[in-house]
Amino acid sequence: MLKFIFKLVSKFFHKRHIYLVKSLVYDDKKTQEYEGRADYIRIKTLELCARQIKAKDVKGSVAEVGVYKGQFAALINENFPDKSLYLFDTFEGFSKKDIDTEKKKNFSTGEQDFSDTSVEMVLSKMPFKEKCIVKKGFFPETAAGMNETFCFVSIDTDLYEPIYASLVYFYDRLEHGGYIFIDDFTNFYYKGAQEAVNKFCNERGITPIPMADVCGGAIISK
Ligand SMILES: C[S@@+](CC[C@H](N)C(=O)[O-])C[C@H]1O[C@@H](n2cnc3c(N)ncnc32)[C@H](O)[C@@H]1O
Repeated sequence: MLKFIFKLVSKFFHKRHIYLVKSLVYDDKKTQEYEGRADYIRIKTLELCARQIKAKDVKGSVAEVGVYKGQFAALINENFPDKSLYLFDTFEGFSKKDIDTEKKKNFSTGEQDFSDTSVEMVLSKMPFKEKCIVKKGFFPETAAGMNETFCFVSIDTDLYEPIYASLVYFYDRLEHGGYIFIDDFTNFYYKGAQEAVNKFCNERGITPIPMADVCGGAIISK
């Protein structure tokens, strides 16, 4: 009877792309309550990478390009309490220049609106606000003049131009033992993400590792 109910429940969730599977059963750290933050695979992968970085004492700051309301940035901040966290975003949504490329190359419509946010709203979510440095404006212009290296970077800008520019900027500044997460690598709504990652990786002889998280991201390490 129990088996039958489990099968029925699994089938119900399966249709909604939700899978009831065991995960990390030999991990000694109890999984946090990820209330309202449903991307378990992405969150747990971040946690595992953060642990590796800590164990190897990898130097450098952490960053996210494409912060929006700060949901993932808050997790980066939580996992790296001692590292400076650079937050890059227009905080006003996509730029027209990037959208033009999307349309011209038929990558996406670029129509999603990410303007309903603010720096104050984002900072209010950060558990270690004093470690946050806000870089408001168009990336890569907002990175000019910085002299930092990084151990962890999340690139979540959806569009081809800022993803490629972020890889060009951050890969050379990534410390050995560091990781770059790129969102939307296999997301067919944002085809430019895979184009940008593959272009950069082919140029540099790198192989990205696809991630089975909600939006189909990828990881690059050094
Ligand atoms: C999908 S949202 C980021 C979601 C976020 N990581 C989260 O945890 O919810 C994409 C963000 O990228 C930003 N963005 C896109 N292109 C950009 C650029 N060239 N410069 C700065 N920000 C950009 C947008 O403003 C938007 O807030």
